[in-house]
Amino acid sequence: MNMLEELRKLPKAELHLHIEGTLEPELLFTLAKRNNILLPYKDIDELKDKYHFHDLQSFLDIYYNGTNVLITKQDFYDLTFAYLAKAKQDGIRHVEIFFDPQSHVSRGIEFKDVIEGISEALEQGKKEFGISYFIIMSFLRHLSQENALEVLEMALPYKDKIKAVGLDSSELGNPPSKFVELFKKCKENNFLTVAHAGEEGPASYIWEALNLLEIERIDHGIRCTEDPELLKTIIQKNIPLTVCPLSNIKLKVYQEMKEHNVKKLFDLGVKVTINSDDPAYFGGYLLENYIQCHNELGFTYKDMCDISKNSIEASFLSSADKLKLIKEIDSLNQKTIV
Ligand code: ADE
Ligand code: ZN
Repeated sequence: MNMLEELRKLPKAELHLHIEGTLEPELLFTLAKRNNILLPYKDIDELKDKYHFHDLQSFLDIYYNGTNVLITKQDFYDLTFAYLAKAKQDGIRHVEIFFDPQSHVSRGIEFKDVIEGISEALEQGKKEFGISYFIIMSFLRHLSQENALEVLEMALPYKDKIKAVGLDSSELGNPPSKFVELFKKCKENNFLTVAHAGEEGPASYIWEALNLLEIERIDHGIRCTEDPELLKTIIQKNIPLTVCPLSNIKLKVYQEMKEHNVKKLFDLGVKVTINSDDPAYFGGYLLENYIQCHNELGFTYKDMCDISKNSIEASFLSSADKLKLIKEIDSLNQKTIV
């Protein structure tokens, strides 16, 4: 059995992906040239040399710098379409992608150009590659709730293009409790909600995301194992965790893959999904995350079928759409056993 090819064939959903985190160095240089932006790096190799991170913040500094080359609607389109071509190769059938509007409107970019560039590329990807999608607008937690509320106002005319809202950026010192009013307003506007919690932040941030923001899924959530009561609640309530293994290694949450707790969470019955977070910076897209989980953590092929099923079940797709994809996974699993 060629495991890489079997994993590629599995219908998968990507539920934790920052579109700005798919900006490959080559495209970054192309866009800088197109927009007459002078980069502080002489070439791609010098830029790639910077991709050694010791924590989340050291990554975010480089990542936000990268977004400065995204100026026009076409730039957002090209970024998103380039990601979808990679997603297709990895056997992804459905994506729920984050974008960070505050990183762009704060630089004078129109909200309209950002959302239209991204959503037009996703529509084209749906036609050309058969990849369905939802968009998640993510708020930067290092900024104030007031700033997020202003951006929410800008987003309301484009409400039909946005399925959910999220919370990302520097976690430590910026707990979910800072954004209670924002999330309440988002729910009043019928957005579904997710939040990054327990990536670097403590288990108490995960409690806050669940109890104060009443989110549907936790992004990362890996520090839940530090609080047995929390772990029990997550299992009992079947709350999905969108785990990003390669990201956690690159940002030194774990020193190496063998230390990662995602297999332990899976064995305990947590609904974990595997995702790529910011693949242009973390050394691999979704399939690479899947294969490394198999190779390094002892996930069997059957386990990986369950992981891909989790990704479908934890998505915001309709029950009918979920059922179709789950049946496909089941039949692949059956064939492989025979
Ligand atoms: N923004 C992009 N990637 C992120 C991550 N891993 N954690 C928090 N915010 C992010
Ligand atoms: Zn993330």
